[in-house]
Amino acid sequence: MDLLSIDSLSDAQIEELLDRSQLLFEDDRSDTKPVRTLAGRIVFNLFYESSTRTAMSFATATHRLGASALSLSVEHSSVKKGETLEDTARTLGAMRPDALVIRHRDNGAPATVAEIVDAPVINAGDGTNEHPTQALLDAATIRYRLGRIEGLKIAICGDIRHSRVARSNAKLLPRLGADVRLAGPPELMPSELPQVSVDEAIDGADVVMMLRVQRERLEEEFGDAPGEYLGRYGLTTDRLATAAPNAVVMHPGPMNRGIEIDSGVADDRERSLITLQVEMGVAMRMACLEMLLRETGA
Ligand code: NCD
Repeated sequence: MDLLSIDSLSDAQIEELLDRSQLLFEDDRSDTKPVRTLAGRIVFNLFYESSTRTAMSFATATHRLGASALSLSVEHSSVKKGETLEDTARTLGAMRPDALVIRHRDNGAPATVAEIVDAPVINAGDGTNEHPTQALLDAATIRYRLGRIEGLKIAICGDIRHSRVARSNAKLLPRLGADVRLAGPPELMPSELPQVSVDEAIDGADVVMMLRVQRERLEEEFGDAPGEYLGRYGLTTDRLATAAPNAVVMHPGPMNRGIEIDSGVADDRERSLITLQVEMGVAMRMACLEMLLRETGA
């Protein structure tokens, strides 16, 4: 079994991941011993794009399960000598890792690797396509904090066009009964997804999830003057005041403070779940690794 997309998972598997990650999260917070359910296993990490949270989160999750995380330093790998992704996959597959985590700039790269490698492959973000473990940890964070997902109004705002986080969440959260509204600057909205204005999306929302403008994926510079984006599309205290009274704020990171989110909102200890998302991310990746290795009979 691979985790390439939210579509890779059945409803029962999603429920199991949400329950198990919450248990692991609570155990870890109450300082119980590390779970060692994957002692002696090896997990390969291949990050072809920059990462702070996701790469360290998978490595931490792997260690907490008693397995070893081995990271390929792509900058110093044979990719630089012109090796194809397929040949790299054959090479790494021959070392028989127990799981392989991959982030790549091309949509579908993890699926290509999964066809070659026998071990379970986890998509840690492919181009503008999907980032399933981020959506799963977002769902777990919402459920932990608000007690449910069913019936919640969730606004996802920002550069939806380039966001694999938005795409995975737009699949997962409605499956769990949420009403998801996507919004952003017209230039950064994909035509295939239904959309509203940022103000409409945030109005009465229980959860407001902000996304960064992914300038590295833009062919032409996005023409906003300094300070303009925050006023038009960003999350300010005033805009958050139009959401539901106890609305919570989320962001997958990395944040661009003062652009898509005001620092006062990002650092609001009552309402911002941004650090909780990171903490839950480790527990969710532990739950995913456990499930995939079990399903694969490893
Ligand atoms: C995101 C990503 O890489 O897709 N970050 C993450 O994994 N937490 C979002 C982004 O880069 O803006």
